[in-house]
Amino acid sequence: MTGRYPNTRMRRARATGWSRALHRETQLTPADLIWPLFVTEGDGVEEPIASLPGVSRWSVDGIVARAKEAVDLGVPVVALFPNTQPDRRSDDGAEALNPDNLMCRAIRAIKEACGDRIGVLTDVALDPYTAHGQDGLLDDTGYVLNDETVAVLVDQALNQAKAGADIIAPSDMMDGRIHAIRMALEMNGHPNVQIMSYAAKYASAFYGPFRDAVGSGGLLKGDKKSYQMDPANSDEALREVELDIAEGADSVMVKPGLAYLDIICRVRQEFGVPVFAYQVSGEYAMIEAAQSVGAGDRDALLMEKLLAFKRAGASGILTYHAPVAARLLNG
Ligand code: PBG
Repeated sequence: MTGRYPNTRMRRARATGWSRALHRETQLTPADLIWPLFVTEGDGVEEPIASLPGVSRWSVDGIVARAKEAVDLGVPVVALFPNTQPDRRSDDGAEALNPDNLMCRAIRAIKEACGDRIGVLTDVALDPYTAHGQDGLLDDTGYVLNDETVAVLVDQALNQAKAGADIIAPSDMMDGRIHAIRMALEMNGHPNVQIMSYAAKYASAFYGPFRDAVGSGGLLKGDKKSYQMDPANSDEALREVELDIAEGADSVMVKPGLAYLDIICRVRQEFGVPVFAYQVSGEYAMIEAAQSVGAGDRDALLMEKLLAFKRAGASGILTYHAPVAARLLNG
């Protein structure tokens, strides 16, 4: 209920900084952020990614340094993505199951250095390991097989959990994978490993720089529309979320971020489960591009967008800008 002017002047509350602080409805803190990191082979290696200015791939030692940086900044989780060397990629993505693959070495190194001071989230999907860049196994026609892929994803998730992953994040969009992974974690002594499901993941044009970063961009033929969602749909996103919660997801993700705030809002209102937004690579690149052509101030653009995710109902945000944002928030 709002009184009439001049009894009510909405600008009264906006007149001063202290008053704006008092009336602020949404808070953003470094603890809301998850920092995605790209891992590469070698020692002492940093490879800048051209389409993601300011983001690099790091060898395992550099990844550990980034994880320590996250701890110091108050960022509670890092998400890992490997850039698998071309000679280790195959049609079946078998490198995903290698206990000594880049991902597992990075997980172990972070856990040795930081223990429980940081959470490690690992992506489950085959695209960083396949020679064709799709997230699963293909049949003769190039269709991504569901159940056959799920069987491999279960082994991939167990491989990551054994290495010390805290949160398994399936990003593949196969049907039934959450239940299968949850059962395998239960039966293999990992009852407290969380699952953050990429429940509503859209077939988006905003993933381009990520595919460069993991080295699958040049390999991918066609698109991912037979498993990732149609950007036209939102009721379908709710069904995806409902299924994943029923199958054992602890939290869900909506991806990409800013163009899908309505989905975050609906998921939060209908289910009340922890929902995370992934501000994806193309979104990061757009903010950096705006700054570089003088169309806006990077820091201001970034903070406004991150706040918008929280306002829409997100529990947290995966963003390549996590260290920049955390520094700004920490003053
Ligand atoms: C792979 C995966 C993708 C992203 C996260 N996991 C790309 C894709 O589905 O093609 C995109 C992240 C980003 O663009 O930042 N399954």
